[in-house]
Amino acid sequence: MKAQFFLYGLILMLLLSCAEHQHEVESVNIEARVDSVFQLMTLQEKIGQLIQFSGNEELTGPDSKTPNELELINKIKAGNVGAMLNVVGVANVREIQRMAVEESRLGIPLLFGYDVIHGFKTMFPIPLGETASWEPELAKATAAMAAYEAAASGINWTFAPMVDISRDARWGRVMEGAGEDPFLSGAFSAARVRGFQGEDLADPLTVAACAKHFAGYGYAEGGRDYNTTEINTSTLHNVVLPPFKACVDAGVATVMNAFNLVDGIPATAHAGLQREVLKKQWGFEGFVVSDWNSIGEMVAHGVAENKKHAALLAMTAGSDMDMEGDCYAPHMLELVQEGKINVAEVEDAVRRILRVKFRLGLFDDPYLYCVEEREGNPAMQQQAEALALKAAQKSIVLLKNEKQLLPLKPGQKVGLIGQLADDKDTPLGSWSAHAVEQSAVSLYEGLQQGDHQLSVRYARGPQVFDQNTSFFKPVIFNQDNPVGMEAAIEVARQSDVVVLAMGESRFQSGEARSQMDIGFKGLQLELFEAVRRVNPNVVVVLMNGRPLDLSAIADKAAAILECWHLGSKSGTAIASVLTGEFNPGGKLPISFPRSVGQVPIYYARTNTGRPTGNESVLFSQYIDGRNDALYPFGHGLSYTSFQLDALELSQSEINAQEQIKISVNVTNTGAVAGTEVVQLYIQDVVASSARPVKELKGFKKVWLEAGAAQQVTFEIDAQALAFYTPEGLWKSEPGVFRLWVGNSAVGGLEGQFKLI
Ligand code: NOJ
Repeated sequence: MKAQFFLYGLILMLLLSCAEHQHEVESVNIEARVDSVFQLMTLQEKIGQLIQFSGNEELTGPDSKTPNELELINKIKAGNVGAMLNVVGVANVREIQRMAVEESRLGIPLLFGYDVIHGFKTMFPIPLGETASWEPELAKATAAMAAYEAAASGINWTFAPMVDISRDARWGRVMEGAGEDPFLSGAFSAARVRGFQGEDLADPLTVAACAKHFAGYGYAEGGRDYNTTEINTSTLHNVVLPPFKACVDAGVATVMNAFNLVDGIPATAHAGLQREVLKKQWGFEGFVVSDWNSIGEMVAHGVAENKKHAALLAMTAGSDMDMEGDCYAPHMLELVQEGKINVAEVEDAVRRILRVKFRLGLFDDPYLYCVEEREGNPAMQQQAEALALKAAQKSIVLLKNEKQLLPLKPGQKVGLIGQLADDKDTPLGSWSAHAVEQSAVSLYEGLQQGDHQLSVRYARGPQVFDQNTSFFKPVIFNQDNPVGMEAAIEVARQSDVVVLAMGESRFQSGEARSQMDIGFKGLQLELFEAVRRVNPNVVVVLMNGRPLDLSAIADKAAAILECWHLGSKSGTAIASVLTGEFNPGGKLPISFPRSVGQVPIYYARTNTGRPTGNESVLFSQYIDGRNDALYPFGHGLSYTSFQLDALELSQSEINAQEQIKISVNVTNTGAVAGTEVVQLYIQDVVASSARPVKELKGFKKVWLEAGAAQQVTFEIDAQALAFYTPEGLWKSEPGVFRLWVGNSAVGGLEGQFKLI
């Protein structure tokens, strides 16, 4: 037996060293090829590589700097453009690529970037929703499918994943990330990078990924998009940066910087972040693209006198490519000639960009992503739709299920109410790329599919959302038009169960969609109350991009199903959960507050000196409400029940070289099969800087038949206990660590061990 293990070990080592060797050979090869092109380039052509413009037909930011068509063509032919964004479709991409490779002096191919955030044609759940699956492999699969569809339309670079940690539901872009926790976000962000990029970037079915927004954009003060941030050093390193590090470790090709200030310095001009941490300490070899005009915006920030000064600050700090800023193009040459910018910095940026182009295979075939036969070819459509359904089902979180009202029972009369229930657009979510408008399966349609043996009657209720919305239009609500209320009440009265869809419309969350109030807009609460008065069996189906303040309905609704914006197969997925065909197993990736006044709220807070009051009121509290979340991070129910017991630790102490095994038994104690996510939280009890009361350090998703049990084991070593200390080092500190194994951030089986 031992000999066999030895042999396997040897073979594995050989394979690994071959793979490593191959990787090294490839890198050396790429570097040599980068050099060979680089040597031919004039300084002007080098600067050209740093420039990115948007296609004119589709914009994703204000005040576009894209020149008119003729000027753009001239710039491309002169080798003065390195990348485009928002140019989609093989014919469009091919034509622009042709100009670059066939009509410019050196024929360097362009990159074509696009925001492929949660699908390209087939929409998957918004990233926040998908994270509720607690299944990074699922995110990898949906990212791979999104890459496949995007690459078939000429795209070779996506501006995703967004890995900003956010703990503020007022910020509309929480929908785009993986929630509040750096560990969970790290796992999902890395999986998404692997999904987009595949094993080999030169595979024409994959695209280069971009971890964004580096860094701290999710900490916008007051949740107001683009606002400044207050992030202390510990939070920056222990919370904000780890998901980016996970992406770099996963081989992410590019990183996008951010609009916000960090410590008073725009992230775009932050050498400490870009040059020191990202490029030097983490060894990131790809390039940094600015966010849309984030270089030019430094003038408005009041740190740059003009665009030329902004270009100087950005390049000095390690921003390699200027997206839509028009700062590098007119000023970089001058800055180098005047000796203000070291040419080596420009050259480093150029090499980084060329490296990604080589890795994508564009120098071997610039039209690799321009295969007409693949575009519009429905070869993968069935798989994409099946995956969209699976992802949507796994993202649904059952927040509450009183009296086991769910699943619905055959023969029941169901009153389906709410504008969102018959909405084929909202489930597509913001950032829905090239999804066809109105193409999602609505909840109403979902309940009509299959043989559910339910009789469903639909009433819209008052109209809340203006249908005529888009990425660029402000969201308009109808605040007080009650037309439709009476009909809805009548349907509720005549039903056994009411399924009431509530939440947010498609563009209510997303970029620039910050809200002061995270409750329900329009007459949604009035509708809820009116319906409940005539029928207490109300199941609320939530469709939203951010945590909402659910306090007005939480006690009164009999059941609540969190369904986010679930993508193309939304209605089918929700119906399958409502009817019990699919047993929900999602868990919240972000805390749901009791009131917007608690925001920012997150489970991994540090303790105050007065965490509880005992007899006194002089402790850290609100006098008009509780401190804790309404639905905590990690929470989610199932149609079955699970019990955790028999917590065992392999030892009571470990040293820096050892590993502790933490096991528990999980049993499905209910009547149907289901999934549970077993979560491990740890607290470093005394440390040189205050550590969170709990931190997620592991999770395992298990599927168990009714009555079945399984042991789940976590392995923790000193590295997993390390944090960024006040001395500026990542290290673990000896002492006592408390731990909890549970099914949310609240409660769980408790233990402790010592690191010596
Ligand atoms: C601005 C957004 O902040 C960024 O996330 C996006 O990728 C760019 N616009 C390009 O559309």
